[in-house]
Amino acid sequence: MEKREHLYEGKAKVMFATDDPNLYIQYFKDDATAFNGVKKGTITEKGVVNNLVASKLMTILEAVGIPVHLVRRLNDREQLVRKVQIIPVEVVIRNVAAGSMSRRLGIPEGQPLSRPVIEYYYKADSLDDPLIVRDHALVFGWATEAELAWIESTCLRINDVLIGFFANIGIRLVDYKLEFGRLAEDPGKVVLADEISPDTCRLWDWTTGEKLDKDRFRRDLGGVVEAYREVARRMGLAIES
Ligand code: ADP
Ligand code: TMP
Ligand code: ASP
Repeated sequence: MEKREHLYEGKAKVMFATDDPNLYIQYFKDDATAFNGVKKGTITEKGVVNNLVASKLMTILEAVGIPVHLVRRLNDREQLVRKVQIIPVEVVIRNVAAGSMSRRLGIPEGQPLSRPVIEYYYKADSLDDPLIVRDHALVFGWATEAELAWIESTCLRINDVLIGFFANIGIRLVDYKLEFGRLAEDPGKVVLADEISPDTCRLWDWTTGEKLDKDRFRRDLGGVVEAYREVARRMGLAIES
């Protein structure tokens, strides 16, 4: 596989073309942002840890039949992924009230939800990724009814798998964000894309409640990379450095 031109540099990753028009290389940076880029920093080795964690979680999901963009992890910072057209709707799945849900609705952080809640956000940096309702995605053509129905049922399956996986290593999966895309080679097929990592999840130690995710950066709690490494360690992943 030959790496070609740099296509897009996002806040946490860089996408490169390859000599195969249907494959991209996803490079994980150490850059961290919060509040839509207002807060910026660098978390040493974050890219290496997130690449490992995201590769492992995508592989686990693929093994239970969830279609994913990951082809394989290439090296410490890169993955080979299938090229997709990203559906511009970020899907947040919540099992416990926290973050913007707690702020918006006045629900205490840590209050368990009686069932998973799925929220949609319009992926538009210029608008600060606003919370939307399902009808907005449909009426503005961001996703079709069939795609949303598939995404919703798939998110519930993903949630069951990930809750169990994390519970086994003493971690409460509080909430997380997923992105889906239409395969470049077959746009009728939707797959899970982007990443699942401590950048995109809230992960709390099951017994102490300690935060093991990006909230340590967002809220200036310190020990950011140590928390990310702890997640990788519990997942049985060895960091080569
Ligand atoms: P952001 O755009 O939020 O700053 P990143 O730094 O994570 O995000 O950059 C990765 C970008 O690549 C995101 O916009 C994401 O939606 C997109 N992306 C993720 N997976 C794929 C894929 N398989 N094909 C094409 N684009 C992808
Ligand atoms: P929120 O409570 O701030 O809405 O975040 C919900 C979850 O989504 C949390 O696990 C963090 C994740 N998330 C992202 O991955 N990217 C984002 O841009 C935002 C706002 C949240
Ligand atoms: N997407 C937000 C940003 O990059 C990050 C976050 O709060 O997770 O600013």
